Amino acid sequence: METEKTQFIKPRIRQVLSEKLPPELIQKLPKHWVQIGDVLILPLRPELEPYRHRIAEVYAQVIGAKTVLKKGRISGEFRETNYEVLHGGDTVTVHTENGIKYKLDVARVMFSPANVKERVRMARVAKPGELVVDMFAGIGHLSLPMAVHGKARVIAIEKSPYTFQFLVENIELNKVQDRMTAYNIDNRDFLGENIADRVLMGYVVKTAEFIPKALSIAKDGSVIHYHNTVPERLMPREPFETFQRVAREHGYEVEKLNEIVIKRYAPGVWHVVVDVRVFR
Ligand SMILES: C[S@@+](CC[C@H](N)C(=O)[O-])C[C@H]1O[C@@H](n2cnc3c(N)ncnc32)[C@H](O)[C@@H]1O
Repeated sequence: METEKTQFIKPRIRQVLSEKLPPELIQKLPKHWVQIGDVLILPLRPELEPYRHRIAEVYAQVIGAKTVLKKGRISGEFRETNYEVLHGGDTVTVHTENGIKYKLDVARVMFSPANVKERVRMARVAKPGELVVDMFAGIGHLSLPMAVHGKARVIAIEKSPYTFQFLVENIELNKVQDRMTAYNIDNRDFLGENIADRVLMGYVVKTAEFIPKALSIAKDGSVIHYHNTVPERLMPREPFETFQRVAREHGYEVEKLNEIVIKRYAPGVWHVVVDVRVFR
């Protein structure tokens, strides 16, 4: 998301801020940031806190962003962000990636730059006409690429009413209303059984609780993309071992097709996705 222009941007930012900040803080200015649409997310060291609004204003001007947020946490069932607004005010933006338009409120809805490879991969694995059920759709992070580029049919389930509004808008923005349908429900209340050629489980920490539901949605021989967070000491056995155990308890056999480490989630903990073929 950071562009090559940053090599010119950083010196310019330092130059402008050297007139406004004590000299010892200039080296501590953020060297990396995330840009989502025209909203910037800045990680800030505690020493810079007293100057945060001034710093944010300069980053916005030099980079050309309308709003700057301070990087914070992503938490809770809806994986909401709590990013403080440092400059500007409008936190809703449209971010374009791999030809997909994602509209979202960056201050409240997560969009992880580190998941970009997975979003691109999903565009490639999806096949025309197959039915994908996205159990944790968010704003369509993973399933919009499947509908747009893969020409798959998608049922996208999102529980948060706020995030759901963006999911619906994104389906229209990307003109895939003919093959993508969204439900604002808890995926455990979804009634479809034995219907999906592919199931997306793009969730972390508690994903294992949802394995039985994913299995009931999946057709015989279909593929489940199972995400979870895994302590390093349990890798590479996990997360496949848990998936296999739960599947066997429910009378399914499974075959591991692929495994990808997506990103570091916390110290000693990784976000991993396993592609699993399931047999009823
Ligand atoms: C972390 S986001 C992931 C988005 C996307 N799948 C990805 O991997 O980039 C997970 C989404 O699942 C939603 N969610 C959590 N529990 C859910 C449930 N039981 N049913 C449906 N959606 C749920 C959250 O509100 C959130 O928007």
